Amino acid sequence: MTDRPAVTVRVPAKVNVQLAVGGARPDGFHDLANVFLAVGLYDEVTATPADALRITATGPDTDRVPLDRTNLAARAAELLAARHGIAPDVHLHIAKDIPVAGGMAGGSADAAGALVACDALWGTGATREELLAICAELGSDVPFSLVGGAALGRGRGELLTPLEVGGTFHWVFAVADGGLSTPAVYAEFDRLTEGVSVPAPEASPALLDALRTGDPTALAPALANDLQPAALSLRPSLAATLTAGTTAGALAALVSGSGPTTAFLAKDADTAASVADALLTSGTCRAARVAAGPVPGATVV
Ligand code: C5P
Repeated sequence: MTDRPAVTVRVPAKVNVQLAVGGARPDGFHDLANVFLAVGLYDEVTATPADALRITATGPDTDRVPLDRTNLAARAAELLAARHGIAPDVHLHIAKDIPVAGGMAGGSADAAGALVACDALWGTGATREELLAICAELGSDVPFSLVGGAALGRGRGELLTPLEVGGTFHWVFAVADGGLSTPAVYAEFDRLTEGVSVPAPEASPALLDALRTGDPTALAPALANDLQPAALSLRPSLAATLTAGTTAGALAALVSGSGPTTAFLAKDADTAASVADALLTSGTCRAARVAAGPVPGATVV
């Protein structure tokens, strides 16, 4: 135990503005063209000196967050400690606001947050490259949680190229009851595409242009998620949520990542607020949150 002060790191959620999925690879993962946008819904991870690795969590649905070493935040601390030959003794407290198992990279955010917080607390002084390598080992979406902003993810999503974004996009996120398992959604994608030749995933030039210009009316028709049919197949009730949001004035609606959170692009902040109200009164979701992006990745506060 040391008397070092606690370190808190704030990490944003993500929405995939394009998720192009290729066929299954020999390692079971899928090649992706994954266009990530970090949005202003945040988890905060606080690292405090302790005699052993311990995890606590507060916030909505934290009964579904594992508090043992299967939590990705614990694994992040263990990987960093192992590389530096120290014991992973730390208390990690996760203040959750990102929907749990919602397709918004909440678990990945906690892993990236834990890594940055432990690096600062322990003074391990890891380079950006080392942190990114640990992130990629932890999960396909974790490197993006570290860097934030907007990026194209290739490979299984971990090979990032930063993207230029010319403005702020306003979103509404409809939180569904319960979560969806990412492996189950990919397995459903495989089932639905069985016998079909799946093209190599490519980022859409129209979508990248719309991001560059910051124009929501150009971005709306380019939004695309190849996992959406699989998420809808496992959770048919999401179709009504998508319709409720577009009826209420959203420019476009899609499932966020592997779901079940649904994402609605609005033309401005006022429209986002009214779409959120309409979604809540529609009774097709449990909560509706507004958030804008891009925002920075994991940041010490
Ligand atoms: O990388 P991560 O641990 O987040 O992936 C969770 C699961 O999602 C993988 O075990 C795999 O089933 C699926 N996945 C995939 N292809 C990707 C990313 C994830 O099949 N590119």
